[in-house]
Amino acid sequence: MIALGIEGTAHTCGVGIVDENGKVLANEMKMYKPETGGIHPREAANHHAEVVVPMVLKAVETAGIKLKDIDLVAFSQGPGLGPCLRTVATAARALALSLNRPIIGVNHCIAHLEIGRIQTQARDPVLLYASGGNTQVIAFANGRYRIFGETLDIGIGNMLDKLGREIGLGYYAGPKIEKAAKEGRKLLDLPYSVKGMDMAFSGILTACLIMKQRGESVEDICFTAQEICFAMLTEVTERAMAHVEKSEVLLGGGVVQNKRLQEMVARMCADRGAKMYVPDRTLCMDNGAMIAWTGLVMHLAGVRMRIDETVVNQRFRTDEVVVTWRD
Ligand code: FE2
Repeated sequence: MIALGIEGTAHTCGVGIVDENGKVLANEMKMYKPETGGIHPREAANHHAEVVVPMVLKAVETAGIKLKDIDLVAFSQGPGLGPCLRTVATAARALALSLNRPIIGVNHCIAHLEIGRIQTQARDPVLLYASGGNTQVIAFANGRYRIFGETLDIGIGNMLDKLGREIGLGYYAGPKIEKAAKEGRKLLDLPYSVKGMDMAFSGILTACLIMKQRGESVEDICFTAQEICFAMLTEVTERAMAHVEKSEVLLGGGVVQNKRLQEMVARMCADRGAKMYVPDRTLCMDNGAMIAWTGLVMHLAGVRMRIDETVVNQRFRTDEVVVTWRD
């Protein structure tokens, strides 16, 4: 069985093709990059509308198959930006109907976890999912993927992007912040914002900007922001692991490319006798292959959707999905 998945929850439009063994046959990605400021949902959706059809054709070509060889069409049903979700859902419906194949809507956060499991062979991990729009700690418990901790305001990646813009590092600031942080030496006085199992990042962003006004260096601000925010992520992940008694951590989302974050989580895992798994970069980021693979395992477990059930859900929670494909 071959599944094609279309991802489009935020700035990335992705089309991936996988087979029944989880082998990625194609994984095309195109990112909408705003000229100034953050993501404008309508502009991102227009980007996806322009690129999605050529990307489907490119993915099919890369996979060395024909359109008619696709057995299932999956798409990211949420959570995400409404206009983007609706655009890729429309593309997926059109493709499924024209090929007369089943269609399946996939929860984007669950897809990060499932592609990580098949690619790294982690069995039952706690997922630390850290990206622009999402920051969640997710684990399987009692038949569902449950969120054990999450951001109460903005995603960690969004916070780092905004920080980068405001202190003059430009757009897509994550790697630049990581580089600058290596030169930082002084741990500044920033709030540590873990509330129960949840986290908040916007206050830390404000505090960073105040530090900049006070004349602190970009390097020290980046260093401190990373140390504080990543310690928060690591703490919540560790407490989730202890609570659900799991000994694996899977990383997912764009921010987990950061080597300092990996180092902190790896240290925590080593202290607990646990194991950390990091999927390949292209499978950590938002991508179509993870949607295709999750749709495929859902389909094989008997999940079916009528077209009228493929309405997108901007606030799609992971625990809304009954997980029938795991014991
Ligand atoms: Fe994501």
